[in-house]
Amino acid sequence: MPDFSGVSDVDSSSSATENPQFVDRFSRKFYYLRLSITDVCNFKCTYCLPDGYHPTGKKNSSFLNQAEIKRIVHAFADCGTTKVRITGGEPTLRKDFNDIVASVAQTSGITKVATTTNGYRMAKQVGDWKEAGLTHINVSVDSLDPRLFHQITGENKFHDVMTGIDRAFEVGYQQVKVNVVLLKQFNGHALPSFLNWIKDRPIQLRFIELMQTGEMDELFQQQHQSGVSIRNHLIANGWLLKVKEANDGPAQVFVHPDYQGEIGLIMPYEKGFCETCNRLRVSATGKLHLCLFGEEGVELRDLLQQDEQEKDLIARIQGALDTKSVSHFLQEGKTGMTPHLASIGG
Ligand code: 5AD
Ligand code: SF4
Repeated sequence: MPDFSGVSDVDSSSSATENPQFVDRFSRKFYYLRLSITDVCNFKCTYCLPDGYHPTGKKNSSFLNQAEIKRIVHAFADCGTTKVRITGGEPTLRKDFNDIVASVAQTSGITKVATTTNGYRMAKQVGDWKEAGLTHINVSVDSLDPRLFHQITGENKFHDVMTGIDRAFEVGYQQVKVNVVLLKQFNGHALPSFLNWIKDRPIQLRFIELMQTGEMDELFQQQHQSGVSIRNHLIANGWLLKVKEANDGPAQVFVHPDYQGEIGLIMPYEKGFCETCNRLRVSATGKLHLCLFGEEGVELRDLLQQDEQEKDLIARIQGALDTKSVSHFLQEGKTGMTPHLASIGG
């Protein structure tokens, strides 16, 4: 495989198999697509959609259909993408969720099909997801206290989500990843109970620092908590940092001989976070986002209407990648255009 690092032009005469891997000016390779299939969510997480989902009412705001999704995934797979995460909003709200999973799973070159869900339907449906070809699940659980869970998410669904996680293991998932957004007031002191929970469960618990988005004002100042104190606690208590493998993203993962579970730390405000960026995002209305923060997105939808457009689609994506910045500049308080993460799929 030739090294395409630094190559900025896509030769549109080349056939699909000769397409370069998507790569940027800093030689970061992108083999991970996060594809949002809906903005709609039925939860009201305080840090994301505190007032619940409201349609934007913008023109052309319908969500990607199955044929469009298929073409995006095909183009990315032809350029080296091996992993696709189906996100939202809440992706499982789409009635055709299982069909989308199956179509992504059947795309040649895609070996991992993941989703991030709030878990409210997991207990009932996880068996079908597995059958459709879903290989990895991330579910959000911001508190192990049902009352606090309700306060954070606006939904009294803690027990349903817990049953869903148990069920995932029963239907054959070896590991489930659980996302916890660090919120000083709600789960700032909950590390011991979270650690206890994963002692005998193969859960990778991922603590995510709260990221400031466009619609957030005081919440960030009130609730942001750095992951540093968690990291210090882990290191002081015998947890070891796992060595990163080639395709690993920005999470720092810790393991402990006495625990079946693992801890991941996602600290976007830490220096060097963006160096291992390996992902691109496509929104539910077909816009390419080079970063979670800071840009309006590149329209792809006009190039998703026919299979024959794939070369142009790839050229547009690579052209956009040539403008990708080295970092998100969040440290400088820049939040960019992203109003909340449900709008571009976390
Ligand atoms: N900061 C950090 N994480 C967030 N998520 C949503 N909004 C934010 C934010 N502002 C998380 C959710 C979910 C994943 C999709 O992104 O909790 O786990
Ligand atoms: Fe919904 Fe996820 Fe946003 Fe919560 S964080 S409101 S579950 S999209």
